[in-house]
Amino acid sequence: MKAITVAQPGAAPQVTSDIPTPSPGEGQVLVKTLYTAINPVDEITASTGALVDAWPHTPGCDSAGVITQLGPNPISALGHEFKVGDKVFGCTRVGQKGYTAWSESHLFDASICIPLPSTLPLPAAASIGTALLTAAIGIFEHLAIPFPDPANLPAAGARDEWALVFGGAGSVGQASVQLLKVAGFKVIATGGAGSAELLKNIGASATVDYKQSTDAIVEEVKRVTNGNLAYAFDAVGKNNDVLTAVYTALQDTTPGPRHYVTTDDWAPLPVLANTTAGGIQLGPIGQPSATKLNVFLQKVIPVLFKLLEQETIKPSAYSVEGAGIEGVLKAWEVQKSGVKGSTKVVVKIADE
Ligand SMILES: NC(=O)c1ccc[n+]([C@@H]2O[C@H](COP(=O)([O-])OP(=O)(O)OC[C@H]3O[C@@H](n4cnc5c(N)ncnc54)[C@H](OP(=O)(O)O)[C@@H]3O)[C@@H](O)[C@H]2O)c1
Repeated sequence: MKAITVAQPGAAPQVTSDIPTPSPGEGQVLVKTLYTAINPVDEITASTGALVDAWPHTPGCDSAGVITQLGPNPISALGHEFKVGDKVFGCTRVGQKGYTAWSESHLFDASICIPLPSTLPLPAAASIGTALLTAAIGIFEHLAIPFPDPANLPAAGARDEWALVFGGAGSVGQASVQLLKVAGFKVIATGGAGSAELLKNIGASATVDYKQSTDAIVEEVKRVTNGNLAYAFDAVGKNNDVLTAVYTALQDTTPGPRHYVTTDDWAPLPVLANTTAGGIQLGPIGQPSATKLNVFLQKVIPVLFKLLEQETIKPSAYSVEGAGIEGVLKAWEVQKSGVKGSTKVVVKIADE
């Protein structure tokens, strides 16, 4: 089969035609890739080798496709047995040979791929899987917020509590704003000035321009929340210092317990009084050693499936920028150029 390959860390990506098609093992399915998307982690695996188990490496973690082959016991997180022809999406094992999505087919662990809701178009599904799972890990694992019941959602702002999302306009950010709102929070989100309307449309009650000085951001957060803020999510992983300034300024009015989570699992976490801090690690998804993560994902996927199916959670804007495996090369350049801003870059790999 065809796939994008990178010969060694930092090498130019190329199209390779003689990649063996993998066979699904216990609890796995083989998926024909119909759409994929470009994520920041694809650049990281290809340029640094982080999370890569063997070279040449095929990047790509977001996939939406159709099952073409079953391994033994292909049981979904929803508890049913997958069939050939079922459509699925989500985040594949990152950097692991045979599992990655910039290829015509790839393995998917049945318990962590998400059945495609009838209301979700395939390209939209390819745009949201990795971001939504990342947001869910941050909110329901690290911030320890209980799962919402999709059949009985709280009224907007029912908790009468604020949650701060740094970088609400990014893919992870948009998923986070929506999930926190669904969990009953009032959400204050940072974004560029051009993202304010988008942030309001997806449910933020207040927005703050992150391009201001840290002092101005702190004052704005203090004013909006009336000094009462115990939950913060950095969805772009660049805001440990701003968070420290915000929580320090609010120390007297929100003494704790306070919670913080970031998508940056590399930099040292801020150490603040009465504050839990954690870094999200989606990277080992699906690997047998990642037992805690995989068990969490199996529990949260039925909730996310329902929220998507009933269109409580909506994918962010996306743009299909290429076709076929060759199209990934162009789409990757488009994503890296930044011209698409917070619009997710998606590639159509094959017809259904
Ligand atoms: N740890 C993990 O397991 C994990 C998993 C997934 C993703 N990640 C990481 O999470 C980060 C976000 O991923 P993504 O896919 O959501 O990226 P993305 O969609 O490319 O994020 C782009 C957005 O970031 C916003 N932004 C940039 N700098 C900002 C700042 N200083 N403060 C606030 N907003 C800022 C921009 O907002 P405006 O348009 O408003 O300017 C832009 O829309 C990446 O670094 C990725 O590597 C980590």
